[in-house]
Amino acid sequence: MQSDPSQPIVSFDDVHLTYDGERDVLRGTRMSLGTGDFRFLTGPSGAGKTSLLKLIYAAHRPTSGSVEVFGHDLSAMPADEMPKLRRRIGVVFQEFRLLDHLTAFENVALPMRVLGVSPNNYRDDVVELLSWVGLAHRIDAQPTVLSGGEKQRVALARALVSKPDLILADEPTGNVDPVMGEKIMRLLLELNRLGTAVVVATHDLGLVRGLKQPILRLKDGQVNLHAPIQDEPQAVAGAAQ
Ligand SMILES: Nc1ncnc2c1ncn2[C@@H]1O[C@H](COP(=O)(O)OP(=O)(O)O)[C@@H](O)[C@H]1O
Ligand SMILES: [Mg+2]
Repeated sequence: MQSDPSQPIVSFDDVHLTYDGERDVLRGTRMSLGTGDFRFLTGPSGAGKTSLLKLIYAAHRPTSGSVEVFGHDLSAMPADEMPKLRRRIGVVFQEFRLLDHLTAFENVALPMRVLGVSPNNYRDDVVELLSWVGLAHRIDAQPTVLSGGEKQRVALARALVSKPDLILADEPTGNVDPVMGEKIMRLLLELNRLGTAVVVATHDLGLVRGLKQPILRLKDGQVNLHAPIQDEPQAVAGAAQ
């Protein structure tokens, strides 16, 4: 399944999402994402960022409106085609979601095992991905002995193992220290430079500032695209930098 670069890979048209028939989380959301785009998805806690990402990877269905992903209208998509679509989307969660009884290698390899791919066809990719995220030396370690930042990088490698066209990262730096957070953001930016579209949901404007990437701002159930936030000159009295 190849994408036509001139077509959006994600497109929301007048999307409404209501939980329990009462909470209107999305109210007429429109937005699109192109091949190779990088977007921050911002908005305060509870604005609906996670819900919006769930609509993209079809964990939820909209109450009304249309969600198209890689040119497919998800509401019209037969259930047996969903796995093929999901394989093109890598998801990184705030809370890592690694399996503690498996090693870093086994955690990253898991999506391929689930797909029934023979180990000979993914072993080198898994090793290469773990090296890329700086964890070649932790390949046999279990998550219980890894730091938060290391766990998140294993989770990132796992999200990449199926070579997705789109990465959705939901507050990926929320449970790691600022230095690790920066490292994870650098990896996501590099991945984007290599051609993968990336959406990073975050309520942390400190993370967004200075990274010079466009922002999808979610407010009152609607999404607006904003230009990157520019660095403001830091005037610190008496502190020569
Ligand atoms: N499965 C659910 N059932 C009912 N309400 C939900 C569910 N998921 C999220 N919500 C509610 O929807 C709103 C948006 O949640 P969420 O998408 O998690 O926001 P964010 O990620 O921006 O913090 C919140 O008020 C939350 O309580
Ligand atoms: Mg959230």
